Amino acid sequence: MNGAEISSHARFDDIRYAQLWEDADVLNAALGQQRGKVLVSICSAGDNALGMLLLDPEKVITIDLSRAQVACLKLRVAAYRALDHQGFVELLGSRPSERRGELFDTAAAGLPAELAAFWGARREAVVAYGLGGVGKFERYFRILRQYLLPLVHSRATIDEVFVSKPLAARAEFLDRRWNNWRWNLLLKLFFSNFVMGRLGRDPAFFQHVEGSLAEHVAGRLRHAAVDLDPSQNPYLHWILKPGHGAALPLAWRAEHYDTIRTRLDRLDIREGALETLVESGERADGFNLSDIFEYMSPEVFETVYGAILAAANPGARLVYWNMMVPRRVPPVHAGRVSRLEPEIAAGKAADKAFFYSDFVVEAVK
Ligand SMILES: C[S@@+](CC[C@H](N)C(=O)[O-])C[C@H]1O[C@@H](n2cnc3c(N)ncnc32)[C@H](O)[C@@H]1O
Repeated sequence: MNGAEISSHARFDDIRYAQLWEDADVLNAALGQQRGKVLVSICSAGDNALGMLLLDPEKVITIDLSRAQVACLKLRVAAYRALDHQGFVELLGSRPSERRGELFDTAAAGLPAELAAFWGARREAVVAYGLGGVGKFERYFRILRQYLLPLVHSRATIDEVFVSKPLAARAEFLDRRWNNWRWNLLLKLFFSNFVMGRLGRDPAFFQHVEGSLAEHVAGRLRHAAVDLDPSQNPYLHWILKPGHGAALPLAWRAEHYDTIRTRLDRLDIREGALETLVESGERADGFNLSDIFEYMSPEVFETVYGAILAAANPGARLVYWNMMVPRRVPPVHAGRVSRLEPEIAAGKAADKAFFYSDFVVEAVK
C-alpha cells in the first residue's frame, strides 16, 4: 500500500498528547553534536522534533503511528510559517489570548482539505485551551487544576510555587506549605493507576507497571520543586496554572523561533511505525524514542530495538525515557551499544518533566 492509499484508509484517532511532556533541553543535550546528520524522532505532538532542528541536522525524520499526533506537528509547521512568535505562543496556549480563533484561522488557512477538516472540528477546543491543551493527557491535568487543586491549595500558595527562591527555601515551602494532608490525599486518589489509566493514559499502558504511581509522582515532584527551580519549569506551570509562566519549552522560545522557522523544510514527516524505517534502508545518527518501549512487551521491545540498531549508523545515539516500566538495552543486543553514563546522569539531574523514572542514552558501537 503506498502513502496515498494509507492516508485515504487510515482513520484519525484522537489527540492523546497535544504538547510534548518530555524535556527537549535534556533530549538535545543527550543527542550531542548532530550538525549535518540524519535524526529520527517519534512525533507525538511534534515539539521535540522541532527542537531537534536546533542541532542543525541535515534532516529530522519524524514518525508516529497516530495520524492525530502527526496532525499536531503539521499544524505547528503551518503556524511557524504563518505567525510571528507572539501569535504562535498565544495559539499554542502558553499565553492568554483574545484572538486565538483568528490566529488558528490564519495558521490553518493553507492546510490540505482532510487536515483542515480534522482541525476545523477542534477549533472551539483550541480557542478555549490552546493548541497545546487539546489532548487527552492535557484534559486530565485540566481536571486536576480546575476542580481538585482549588480544594487543596489557595491561589496564593499555587502562585508561590513559581516565585524564584533558593534551594533551602524551596524545600521548606514544599514540606511546610505544599505537602499538607489534603495534597497527600489528592496524590493518592488522583494519581492512582486506576484513575490515571482512565483519564489520562490508556489502561493498557499500565500492563507492565509495578508499584504505586502516587509514590512515584511524589518523589519526582520533590526533584522538580526543590532540586530544580520551579519558576523555570514550563511543564509544572502548565499543570498547576493555565499556560506557561516565565519559561517555555525549547521549541517555543522566542530566541529559537526564526532558526526553527528557516529549517522547517528539513522535517520529513511520516505516519507509521518506527520499525518500518529499517525496511527502507535508511540510516540515522540520533534517535528520539520518547517512551515508546514502555508500551511493548519485553519480546516486542527486543525485536523493535534490533530494528532500530539495524537503522543506526556507528556512533548513533538512542535517547529514551521510561515512566514506570524499566526498559534498557535488551541483553541480546547489549554488546552492540554502550550506555553513556555522564549524559544519563546529566539528563536525569536536569529533567524538568518530572514524571519519568528513568532516562537512557545509549551509543551504537
Ligand atoms: C510513546 S507516546 C509518549 C508521549 C510522551 N510521553 C509525550 O510527552 O508526548 C508518544 C507517541 O509514540 C507513538 N508511538 C508509539 N509506538 C510507536 C511506534 N512503534 N512507531 C511509531 N510511533 C509510535 C504514539 O502514537 C505516541 O503519539
